[in-house]
Amino acid sequence: MSEHRLDDGAIATGVPKIHFDDVRIGFGKGAKRKEVLDGVSFDVRSGEFVSVLGPSGCGKSTLLTLAAGFAKADAGSVEIDGSPVVGPHHDRGVVFQQYAIFPWLTVRKNIAFGLTLRANRHNKADINAATDRYIDLMGLRGFEDALPKTLSGGMRQRVAIARAYATNPSVLLMDEPFAALDAQTREFMQELLHEANLEEQRSAMFITHSVEEAIFLSSRIVVLSNRPTRVHEILDVPVPMPRTAESRTSPEFIELRRHLEEVMRSMSSFTHGGTP
Ligand SMILES: Nc1ncnc2c1ncn2[C@@H]1O[C@H](COP(=O)(O)OP(=O)(O)OP(=O)(O)O)[C@@H](O)[C@H]1O
Ligand SMILES: [Mg+2]
Repeated sequence: MSEHRLDDGAIATGVPKIHFDDVRIGFGKGAKRKEVLDGVSFDVRSGEFVSVLGPSGCGKSTLLTLAAGFAKADAGSVEIDGSPVVGPHHDRGVVFQQYAIFPWLTVRKNIAFGLTLRANRHNKADINAATDRYIDLMGLRGFEDALPKTLSGGMRQRVAIARAYATNPSVLLMDEPFAALDAQTREFMQELLHEANLEEQRSAMFITHSVEEAIFLSSRIVVLSNRPTRVHEILDVPVPMPRTAESRTSPEFIELRRHLEEVMRSMSSFTHGGTP
């Protein structure tokens, strides 16, 4: 694995960045009760980019919500840097599928938003420097003063990702951030995010439906089962880093894609009563 960030206190102790231990959660009461996560355990280690892949409705977003501190598990524990998650915290940068940027703020102000919230800990020069860095990293130079309504979907997601990075989070939590984009933009965004994260060395948990996207971006992939959900398997991605457009046609990539597509297909045929 590549070098870790210097400010990462967990390295010395080997404490995982994100730790899910036998996490259980369900919704509803009585006969309407639906068990969703049925004992899910896995870690995201320091500097790792881990994708979570699983059938629709298996609880991927729920898992991310638990790590973000927006909800609480019924049983089991969720820890970040060795401490239980008790609520939302600025050490987690969250990016959602829907464009969660403020329509009334410019690109620059959206990216700086989290930093200005913590103004007591950042002076203006630091905020400007961080904002500039992520404007460049996400290829938004020239659009600093644009309002979101004038941007394409891909560019809006770049603003959302830049904003998440800018607060210097301990972990990045992303829930299908590219799902609404067309195929070509999506590949471009995967490449941009991969390059950005190689440079930044953040620990990340990335939710996706896309086998291709999971392989391209990740060092490991956690595959979840159908509901009630457990970990089906955890796979190392043997495709060398850095990944480029050519990586997608490498034998390792193709072999892992074949395997994962088969796994996903078998799960979806289970969900839909055996139809292919
Ligand atoms: N707050 C809630 N109240 C009731 N049910 C919920 C709630 N949150 C999630 N669920 C249910 O839990 C299950 C898992 O939802 P979740 O959104 O986590 O799935 P997912 O794997 O992200 O699905 P998708 O791939 O479609 O995004 C679904 O059946 C959903 O209806
Ligand atoms: Mg979801």
